[in-house]
Amino acid sequence: MTAPTSRPFYLDCDTGIDDALALAYLLASPQADVRGIGTVSGNVSAAVGARNTLDLLQLAGHAHIPVALGAHDPLGGSFRGGAPHVHGANGIGEVSLEAASVELASETAAEMLVRLANEHPGTLRVLAIGPLTNIAEALRLEPELPRLVEEITIMGGAALAPGNITAVAEANIANDPEAAADVFAADWNVTLVPLDVTMSNVLEESHRQELLASSGPVPRALGEMLGYYFGFYEGIFGRACSAMHDPLAAALAVGGVRAAVAPLVRVDVDTTFGPGRGQTVCDLRGLYLDYPEQPGARCRVVLSLEDDFAPHLVETLLTFSSESTTAGTIVGAAVV
Ligand code: BDR
Ligand code: CA
Repeated sequence: MTAPTSRPFYLDCDTGIDDALALAYLLASPQADVRGIGTVSGNVSAAVGARNTLDLLQLAGHAHIPVALGAHDPLGGSFRGGAPHVHGANGIGEVSLEAASVELASETAAEMLVRLANEHPGTLRVLAIGPLTNIAEALRLEPELPRLVEEITIMGGAALAPGNITAVAEANIANDPEAAADVFAADWNVTLVPLDVTMSNVLEESHRQELLASSGPVPRALGEMLGYYFGFYEGIFGRACSAMHDPLAAALAVGGVRAAVAPLVRVDVDTTFGPGRGQTVCDLRGLYLDYPEQPGARCRVVLSLEDDFAPHLVETLLTFSSESTTAGTIVGAAVV
């Protein structure tokens, strides 16, 4: 059997418990060669997200991957303080990781993305799991970016499902609708991983226990963080479990799971100031009409998966053994 081809990746994130799961999943995936990570304000500020990312990379033995600080504020406003009720005040469920000794990169996240796209023309893959401010800024810095990037996978939006911030808007899009509108208007291959599929694939308490029982500090730290996350989602699902937003986007980006239903459609973002603000308007009329080709249909909207995702996620995360992660430690966990 031949080894899977490894692709260069740029990750843009707002780390965040599910961002931490996505990062660990990418690091454990032979199909992904993470060349750089940028942070953006979302679950926490871009600066706190960057510290969390550096600490996680050190814990995972990947402190060599550069991390760049991205936008603190959305294009059209100010950062509103994040989601401590979902991710904890520190963004990673009040778990304390050993502080990384590595410094941030000297470039911004948008500059890093542009540099990597020029270094890997036509092959760089982008995974965006936070608000899209850095990606929109990169498009302004380098108008050729859509041609240089092979594919961008975005966790965000809601196609047929309700929003999780307003009736129609999902958090990553709601936090910067203007940036999202620019990103969806650009002429590149986009895969959108919306709430429709991330809320219907859940991680259960038995999966968390498997992570906690690992000898590796990375799965154990993730299991501890998930204790906090499960606390939030218990109010939604009625039992200890969680949605899997960002790790599912990571798995679709590397091909670890396959979409079952994922029509190629046009997506527009509502930037008005009415009740539709932040909605991803996905033209899905083709689901029940013989609908002719749509102008601007370049976004693959994932609506369902071929297989159950949670077992694959846990199996991948458990490949972090104690031997592979000697560089960092968990200092403490308030929530277990
Ligand atoms: C998205 O918003 C953030 O809270 C999560 O990390 C995920 O990227 C889900 O709506
Ligand atoms: Ca995120």
